Amino acid sequence: MQRQNPIPPRIGFIGAGRVAKGLAWGLAQSKHNITAAASRSLASAEQLAARIAGCRASTDAQDVVDSADLVFITVPDDAIAAVAASVRWRQGTAVVHCSGATEVSVLEPAARAGAAIGGFHPLQLFADPDVALAGLPGCTVAIEAAAPLSSQLELLAAALRCPTIRLPPGCRARYHAGAHYAAGFVITLLKEAADLWQTFGVSREDAVRALLPLLRGTAAGVERSGLAQGLAGTYSRGDVGTLEKHLESLSRIGPDALHLYCELALRSITLGLERGGYDEHRAEEMRALLRAAIKG
Ligand SMILES: NC(=O)c1ccc[n+]([C@@H]2O[C@H](COP(=O)([O-])OP(=O)(O)OC[C@H]3O[C@@H](n4cnc5c(N)ncnc54)[C@H](OP(=O)(O)O)[C@@H]3O)[C@@H](O)[C@H]2O)c1
Repeated sequence: MQRQNPIPPRIGFIGAGRVAKGLAWGLAQSKHNITAAASRSLASAEQLAARIAGCRASTDAQDVVDSADLVFITVPDDAIAAVAASVRWRQGTAVVHCSGATEVSVLEPAARAGAAIGGFHPLQLFADPDVALAGLPGCTVAIEAAAPLSSQLELLAAALRCPTIRLPPGCRARYHAGAHYAAGFVITLLKEAADLWQTFGVSREDAVRALLPLLRGTAAGVERSGLAQGLAGTYSRGDVGTLEKHLESLSRIGPDALHLYCELALRSITLGLERGGYDEHRAEEMRALLRAAIKG
């Protein structure tokens, strides 16, 4: 598949779930040729195909491979290897999966048959297909592939109005682990805050309602000004007195709450310094208090 090829690739999907529908519908809206979709159940494939003129629906993955130049394997992560090994691939085609953490080498059976292999991971959480379609523009797609497939995938991402980052081989687990800091771990931190507030009688529901605008404001600050300049609060200013009050109070809650706070605070000091809110002398004073609190 050449980037310069004037004939747009015929695109197929194996696995017709949330991501497949979002991608297929989005690509079809931007005039791409979605030829076939297969899924474990015919109903899922038919739902995908119903919104795309000329798209064939079946339960036959081989039919998708035989009728497409570029195949998206959009089954659950644990099924990707089995699907890739279950069909006959051919020279000159390409196949990608959409998993964040799964290495592209899982598509090796296709590579052995002469197909180009790659990864196309939209970095967003998709609860249902319409959410996926609406959520795609603006979300980053992580692309892993050698040229010329890499360029082809860049063009598809651009058609979906998604910026891209490139992943080198072998780093997907690290990439995926890192993404947790902007997703599930934020929820874990909200729970930590809610647990603290519950100790003086605020319900989890009220805590979440109160904390969400703060979270949105924080995200907006980062979007506007970047990480260091987006930092607000004690560690943006270097308020040692406030830090000491926090440590004294959290030490009465217990070592777990205290240690988590100290680890996060130590990392926040690095950003506070970068922001220029205080000097290294003040930073070291704060670090010493935090390290002493960790040691107990
Ligand atoms: N959802 C997200 O937020 C998200 C975000 C980024 C990337 N991803 C990645 O995208 C990929 C798909 O995830 P998803 O959330 O779209 O999953 P999903 O909604 O659960 O859909 C998976 C689809 O694959 C079909 N399927 C399962 N086993 C199959 C097999 N052996 N052969 C053919 N079809 C099979 C299912 O079948 P039936 O419906 O036909 O029963 C289902 O339609 C995964 O690699 C995931 O890591 C997901």
